[in-house]
Amino acid sequence: MKILIAGGAGYIGSLLAPALLDHGYQVDVIDLLWFGNHLPPSVRVIKKDLFTCHEIDLKGYDHVIFLAGLSNDPMAEYNPAKNFIDNGALPSFLAYRAKNAGVKRFIYASSCSVYGHALDHFYTENDPVICDYPYGISKLQGEKGVLQMTRKDFSVIALRQGTVCGHSPRMRMDLIINTMFKTAMTQGKIIVNNASIWRPIYDIRDAIIAYLRAIQADESVNGIFNVCSGNFTVGAAANTVREEVEQLTGKKIELEIKKIEDFRNYKVSIDKAKAALGFEPRFTIKDIVKDLYLHRNEYGDCEKDEFYNIRVFKKLEADQSK
Ligand SMILES: NC(=O)c1ccc[n+]([C@@H]2O[C@H](COP(=O)([O-])OP(=O)(O)OC[C@H]3O[C@@H](n4cnc5c(N)ncnc54)[C@H](O)[C@@H]3O)[C@@H](O)[C@H]2O)c1
Repeated sequence: MKILIAGGAGYIGSLLAPALLDHGYQVDVIDLLWFGNHLPPSVRVIKKDLFTCHEIDLKGYDHVIFLAGLSNDPMAEYNPAKNFIDNGALPSFLAYRAKNAGVKRFIYASSCSVYGHALDHFYTENDPVICDYPYGISKLQGEKGVLQMTRKDFSVIALRQGTVCGHSPRMRMDLIINTMFKTAMTQGKIIVNNASIWRPIYDIRDAIIAYLRAIQADESVNGIFNVCSGNFTVGAAANTVREEVEQLTGKKIELEIKKIEDFRNYKVSIDKAKAALGFEPRFTIKDIVKDLYLHRNEYGDCEKDEFYNIRVFKKLEADQSK
């Protein structure tokens, strides 16, 4: 089976592409390489803006996985116009091209951030979604655009992902557990802006499993699926990171709790992904910390700009306006 990963040179794609190769799939990547290329040479990488793709570029692929666009709130807030174009319109544009090229399945990297401020229960895919911030709104737009193209011969699966964390060859230090790990290791401290808010946390290795399940699912499977490794308050997550880093290093880690309001607060049910995709998360926050610790010597300076999407994005934007 031949798979195209759009935006596959980013944080998730850099682990997903080699994993798919290991499972016997043929994998190509189209990416603008904002964060460089950390993929193995066995992955064919085409440096190209997805907006310039024609039907011919998508011919011959069985599945397309969409991992492109602006991938966090700071990027979306820095350039909301580009955010609404790249996250809102680009997925539909590519799904339209893919469908016309005869691709059988389009898998869209959605986000649980579409749930906004949803306190009272574990949100399911049937619950109404209301969010007021550019990233969440645009991910929902992207999701709606691609899902309405679902047909008998064109399956669309949207994976509403929790915050992905853990090690990738294209590393990000701007993701909740990765940031906590970094400050614990480098400053002996974890700063929590608001201990009581809920977040679905997602080990990147569980994310790989979910993409595999989506690829392997019967062609009749379509729709939205919440996916994460577990739901935690940020305070509980920080405590676990602290305990694990203390255990691994033998050093005492300080916890600083602030009281800063957050516009995101949600916990989600993954029952539908379990039942329909056979997705079973395998990893915990402790596993994420162990994984990061295992790779600690590869990171060098954890404050490198390339580890922070917003810093790279600001530079790209500045270069383009010259
Ligand atoms: N990382 C998370 O915690 C998380 C959580 C939920 C959803 N998501 C979604 O998953 C996807 C992947 O996340 P990530 O962390 O790997 O992101 P990332 O920022 O590391 O990678 C995105 C990649 O897309 C490429 N790209 C962007 N626009 C492009 C275009 N027009 N043409 C070609 N390439 C383009 C970039 O060069 C980059 O390599 C994103 O859509 C994000 O919104 C991520």
